[in-house]
Amino acid sequence: MSNTEKIEEILGRYSYSGADNLISILQDIQNELGKLTEEAIVIVGHNLQIPTSKIYGLATFYNQFKFEGKGKNHICLCNGTSCWLKGAKRNLVYLKENLKLENGQTLRNGEFSLEVVTCMGACEHGPVISINNEYFSDVNPEKLKKILDDLTQE
Ligand code: FES
Repeated sequence: MSNTEKIEEILGRYSYSGADNLISILQDIQNELGKLTEEAIVIVGHNLQIPTSKIYGLATFYNQFKFEGKGKNHICLCNGTSCWLKGAKRNLVYLKENLKLENGQTLRNGEFSLEVVTCMGACEHGPVISINNEYFSDVNPEKLKKILDDLTQE
């Protein structure tokens, strides 16, 4: 079953009654797909006759929903063998504890998203991260904090 079919099947469980069942529908879709996709939002909006902006607005109000799509600052964190041996995990933990950001997630405010990758071809300079294709080497949590602080102050 394709994602589109899954979304339509979920919508079929509810009577099409405007926004009344919206939260339940979004919960079911997230349970099925693991996150809310742009496609899901569009299909739900079309079926319920609700503008997608309203669905995004409602869904972002609730912590429980996860969205796909890159954030304004897309972090690629290398967790390949070399970077891992040099402490990449500490950077992952930092992002998880301080930004509440885990692999594959985008923050609800759209500021940051995280993608863990296996090698960025600069192993001797690890741990390596890139943010919006700008590369940073020898990254540790202290350096990561400074990089992120600089980005959010721009
Ligand atoms: S393992 Fe990280 S750059 Fe190669």
